[in-house]
Amino acid sequence: MTPSSLTGETAALRIDIDRLIRRLADLAAIGAIEGTEGCARLALTDEDKEGRDLVVTWMNDLGLDITTDGIGNVVGVMAGKTDGPPVMCGSHIDTVRTGGRYDGNLGVLAGLEIVETLMAAGHVPDRPIAVAFFTDEEGSRFQPDMLGSLVYVGGMPLEEALDIEAIDGARLGDELVRIGYDGPAPLPAAAPHSFVELHVEQGPVLEQEGITIGAVESVQGISWSEVEVVGQSNHAGTTPMHLRKDPGYVATACATFIRELALELGHPQVGTVGRIEFFPNLVNVVPAKATFTVDIRNTDEAILKESERRFAEFLAATAEAEGCTVTTTPLARFEPVIFDADVVDLVANTAAELGHSVKRMPSGAGHDAQMLARLCPTAMVFTNSVDGISHNPAEYTAPDDLEAGTNVMLHTMLTLAKTDFDASDANTSDKGDA
Ligand code: GLV
Ligand code: MN
Ligand code: MN
Repeated sequence: MTPSSLTGETAALRIDIDRLIRRLADLAAIGAIEGTEGCARLALTDEDKEGRDLVVTWMNDLGLDITTDGIGNVVGVMAGKTDGPPVMCGSHIDTVRTGGRYDGNLGVLAGLEIVETLMAAGHVPDRPIAVAFFTDEEGSRFQPDMLGSLVYVGGMPLEEALDIEAIDGARLGDELVRIGYDGPAPLPAAAPHSFVELHVEQGPVLEQEGITIGAVESVQGISWSEVEVVGQSNHAGTTPMHLRKDPGYVATACATFIRELALELGHPQVGTVGRIEFFPNLVNVVPAKATFTVDIRNTDEAILKESERRFAEFLAATAEAEGCTVTTTPLARFEPVIFDADVVDLVANTAAELGHSVKRMPSGAGHDAQMLARLCPTAMVFTNSVDGISHNPAEYTAPDDLEAGTNVMLHTMLTLAKTDFDASDANTSDKGDA
């Protein structure tokens, strides 16, 4: 690969951490969760619109060329010395309902900080630099997750995505129009030159090992589904146990099974039942219906498939024995993704040249970068999450780590702007379907 940007005229460039922290705080003030540092901006809600408007204002202030596409992804481009596909960074600014201020937001605002640093230094990069925020990465309100970036790379037709129904019943396309982010930019989008995403680790590994930077090599596969179990609602006091058709029992047995399966398969298998609802949800009524979600993940596609099979078998047998019926709806399914080895090397080398300890590691969370990897050479930079906490308002990353991660991004992107890849470098390993 091309010589590092840490030699020559850009070697001394560093980002302004105070400016980055101010922007993180201003964005986190929108949808702020009272009494915490966190925020709630579920995709395409009024709070998401307000957050988007603020980031677009900042993009405008920097003079970026801004486009919005039909799924609401927004891209701001800083011109380079040559035209052509940009070196892109970005992430998402939607959050889970109990979100922290760094998940996603850091990757977007670090991009603006990098652009502002380059502009302040009067440096024009060899290629354009793009900063993107993608719609509904979290998948909390509309499934699947990484939806905007999935449509961006052509992994789902726009029309299908616009028809997705939210957990609150709203239609995605209607919500986009309502908040004014149904833009004209074409989909699927043209391939960027390369893509790098800065993200907080959202796990404990870097902190526990005392390492500053993660050079992310892969993202584990994700399988999400919703299960509805229907039984016979009845009186909790008068119905003998052997005569019950109890969907509440089936659901909770499944939750236990998902956990035991993960423990049996061992790390990195994880399994979560994150949402469970009973109807009518009353103390003295055997439920008529139970609905729950299943999230299972593994870096190994074969083990992920095997755990899906074993869960389906357990669910069917348990429901049948209890006299209940089940309906399973897939919500998201993405195979594990391997990032581009050259870009991973570049991240690791750049971090080392900047004097940081670095670890090559997989990502446990899903990220927009795993979709962009289908289009162009892609990797990610992780920075430390205190106590490994995320999807929680207590999520925290110290300023020194934010600064280290953003400087690694700055110099990784500057080197990429000087790098030629051959056309076969996009990664097609993630063939997952939503
Ligand atoms: C996305 O945040 C995920 O659940 O990994
Ligand atoms: Mn995220
Ligand atoms: Mn998240």
